[in-house]
Amino acid sequence: MCGIVGYVGPRPALEVVVDGLRRLEYRGYDSAGVAVIDPVGGLRTAKKAGRIENLDKELAHQTITGTTGMGHTRWATHGAPTDRNAHPHVSGDGRVAVVHNGIIENFRELRRELEAQGTEFRSETDSEAVAHLVAAQLRGGAASLADAVRAVCRRLAGSFTLVVLDRDDPDVVVAARRNSPLVLGVGDGEMFLGSDVAAFIEFTREAVELGQDQVVELRRGGYTVTDFDGAPAHGRAYHVGWDLSAAEKGGYDYFMLKEIDEQPGAVADTLRGHLVDGHIVLDEQRVDVQELREIDKVFVVACGSSFHAGLIGKQAIEHWTRVPVEVELASEFRYRDPVLDRQTLVVAISQSGETADTLEALRYARDQRARVLAICNTNGAQIPRESDAVLYTHAGPEIGVASTKAFLAQVAAVELVGLAIAQARGTKYGDEIGREFDALAAVPDKIAEVLADLDPVRAVAREIAASKAVLFLGRHVGYPVALEGALKLKELAYMHAEGFPAGELKHGPIALIEDGLPVVVIMPSPTARSVLHQKVGSNIAEIKARGARTIVVAEAGDVAAREHADHLIEVPATPTLASPLVATVPLQVLAAEIAQARGYDIDKPRNLAKSVTVE
Ligand code: AGP
Repeated sequence: MCGIVGYVGPRPALEVVVDGLRRLEYRGYDSAGVAVIDPVGGLRTAKKAGRIENLDKELAHQTITGTTGMGHTRWATHGAPTDRNAHPHVSGDGRVAVVHNGIIENFRELRRELEAQGTEFRSETDSEAVAHLVAAQLRGGAASLADAVRAVCRRLAGSFTLVVLDRDDPDVVVAARRNSPLVLGVGDGEMFLGSDVAAFIEFTREAVELGQDQVVELRRGGYTVTDFDGAPAHGRAYHVGWDLSAAEKGGYDYFMLKEIDEQPGAVADTLRGHLVDGHIVLDEQRVDVQELREIDKVFVVACGSSFHAGLIGKQAIEHWTRVPVEVELASEFRYRDPVLDRQTLVVAISQSGETADTLEALRYARDQRARVLAICNTNGAQIPRESDAVLYTHAGPEIGVASTKAFLAQVAAVELVGLAIAQARGTKYGDEIGREFDALAAVPDKIAEVLADLDPVRAVAREIAASKAVLFLGRHVGYPVALEGALKLKELAYMHAEGFPAGELKHGPIALIEDGLPVVVIMPSPTARSVLHQKVGSNIAEIKARGARTIVVAEAGDVAAREHADHLIEVPATPTLASPLVATVPLQVLAAEIAQARGYDIDKPRNLAKSVTVE
């Protein structure tokens, strides 16, 4: 998820664009860059790795004028966050500049085609291919920049927001979008583009949201929208009711609430491109198939929510591959003298990629000659840099300290690793792997269904907000979900909360049950795991008999759950190993609602930091 800004009008474009990038920096801060069409200097670009301050220093000793321009803050997907990989990217003939947000899935074949024609690439990015393709269209006689962009968009697969400049047509900016956000700002004699309205809200509140597979041509006096074939089309015009600070959160009160709503996209983007012709593809992640065949043990090392994602991954990997998996808290791992060797695969899961405990654990693992695969949400962070292979989650920047979209993306990613191991070892047939992948690919819509009806969760949150404590129970993959729900409540509402395996309660913790104590129970599917469903039903009866207030998360239509529940939270039916991706969402919302009821800042909970870079 990157930040994109475009402008055409009477103002100095550089100033408008850089200010817009500053307000979008939360969308990505691996690098930043600008392009301006300068009446004297032609197409001028500047770009630097790191925060926008680095770009400012780069610009400080340059004079760039011009009233047509664009900019980009990068959240790296393909290619490390370096100067070379920063956007904008320019065609070989210096005529066309492009900034891009998204993932072009067929960029390898496009790059091969261009290189075969003699094009030299200067970056490792998928985005650079677009600049070369648009320039080739213009050289080939395209009637306009918009025509050239439309022709190229028809060849692209994946997700993209593109903004394109043509040195030889300084009064126009062209943009296109598929599966990635783009909004226009309509000013008086000036036009703006942004990944979201924060880019231009100080200049205009009249916005137009572009639709899927649309191209827009901006000039000072107005804009024209078409589809990729050139047929007239329309965006959705609206008046922005937010102020600037709210706009950075997309109109939400907190980043965390926005990130909860971004979860369908986070899971979809993490899975995108990893099943090609029925085959799990992790080759770009440097995952060596032969090595996956040779491993005889897997360790997952992680902390907090990432540790919980590992616990879910264990269930999937062992079920699909029959390779034993141990999931360890990174802070404990290297102090207990674990048994590792060359046949061990260590999976280090980390949103930030900077967690010291996890970093030290993977360093220990590498000293023991184990192979390390990182699952990370931050391109180029220390943990992926020190790993043999890396599978990036594509949740986009997660600003809220409490992990939500990154956690779900981690679960999807670790299950992808399980399918890749099963594929390499032949423990699952191709069609079985395809079905498991499809179950994961169906999850975004199910999450969206949950997000569309949160009233029952919000009502429960208000009723239990004053409670002293809350317990969370689950079995099998429901147990890590219980742990994650308890962690969210602890870190957001500062409330005592604890997750237990439901079957363990009678071995001591049931003594905690007292009249009115809220207990959240994650019910297994009544069909997929009926034996577990019956046992958890018994566990709920045990706690109800002792006065607990039962809050049951269950598949829609689960009759037994309805009988046991004082409060029922229904979620769409989902196959067992994909179900945590859906069942976790109401627990995130429950914790956020209770914390807000208690008056806390859910983006910045007390005592916590987004990445823990000390042991
Ligand atoms: C989760 O909500 C917390 N922010 C925390 O437990 C976090 O998951 C943990 O610190 C690990 O962080 P990482 O994924 O960046 O390594």
